Amino acid sequence: KPVVLSGCQPSGQLTLGNYLGAIKQWVQMQQTHECLYMIVDLHAITVRQNPQDLHQACLDGLALYLACGVNPDESAIFMQSHVPEHAQLGWVLNCYTQMGELNRMTQFKDKAQKNQSNVNVGLYAYPVLQAADILLYQANEVPVGQDQKQHLELTRDIATRFNNIYGDVFTLPEPCIPKNGARVMSLQDPDKKMSKSDTNPNNVIGLLEDTKKLTKKIKRAVTDSDEEANIFFDIEKKAGVSNLLSLLSATGGESIEALVPQYEDKMYGHLKKDVAEAVVALINPIQEEYSRIRSDQAYLSDVMHKGSAKAREKASDTLSRVYKALGFITSV
Ligand code: AQP
Repeated sequence: KPVVLSGCQPSGQLTLGNYLGAIKQWVQMQQTHECLYMIVDLHAITVRQNPQDLHQACLDGLALYLACGVNPDESAIFMQSHVPEHAQLGWVLNCYTQMGELNRMTQFKDKAQKNQSNVNVGLYAYPVLQAADILLYQANEVPVGQDQKQHLELTRDIATRFNNIYGDVFTLPEPCIPKNGARVMSLQDPDKKMSKSDTNPNNVIGLLEDTKKLTKKIKRAVTDSDEEANIFFDIEKKAGVSNLLSLLSATGGESIEALVPQYEDKMYGHLKKDVAEAVVALINPIQEEYSRIRSDQAYLSDVMHKGSAKAREKASDTLSRVYKALGFITSV
């Protein structure tokens, strides 16, 4: 079976963007792929985190994966920091990545711009650790949102460089970017993507948020970027309306082409009401399942334990291949 690897940062409450861009695909891929899904806690500390909040976010994220339908009998579900090979391979790959390559990463530029008092080396090298995450498992496919495409390309470049020197050590991964929901935008500022660490809660649809609050937020979403109150899909001219149409399509299942004619003579309010209902219908059962799972600490520990043991088998195998290729002494 082809191998799949993906993860989310426990840098806040997971959002509808994380779900539609990534987790939804993870669930579908379990049938056909060998899947590994992690909570990337090592990545999260590239931005300063409160330890208690981080601890909770790791457990919340794990319970949410399960509530969304990631199945621990089919997939390895684990904490990145429980598999030390991520940091070990990350270091090695730092030595095979050029600063010029990292200087071009748009996520680094955005995050450095947003948080100028903490532009740390980890934030800069984030895409290298991400490359290690993927290459460690010889992943064939990486289900991610559109924002991660550039990092995936870098992963392929690093792997190709390494393979050209040492032979075929790494599998080259392909990104799997969904057709709908690959870039869910902020509700109040639809030119930027929805992010779990956004400081304005009105921009974000959290998977664990009260559904009444969510409905209000969606009804207040920005739509008017021009004078024309027509509903059509055009990301440049109608960023807010296009985001709502994408959301409705990704949550309700109808294509955007099929949706647009249904709103021909309707007001923005109709569209918002339908989006809110579709989002709530999607989120309600996830929240019910979540509250059942989140309180079962023993079960969560068991899932993490089993998941990391399974992941380490593969990870340690790749790391020893890498160390051998480099000429390290691997047995004493
Ligand atoms: N708005 C989005 N639309 C579609 N997909 C998205 N993803 C994130 N935001 C959107 C996808 O979710 C997965 C996990 O992302 P991450 O937690 O590793 O980091 P991120 O991309 O930086 O996500 P956030 O929510 O924006 O986190 P913060 O605020 O901490 O930076 C990835 O597959 C991503 O593509």
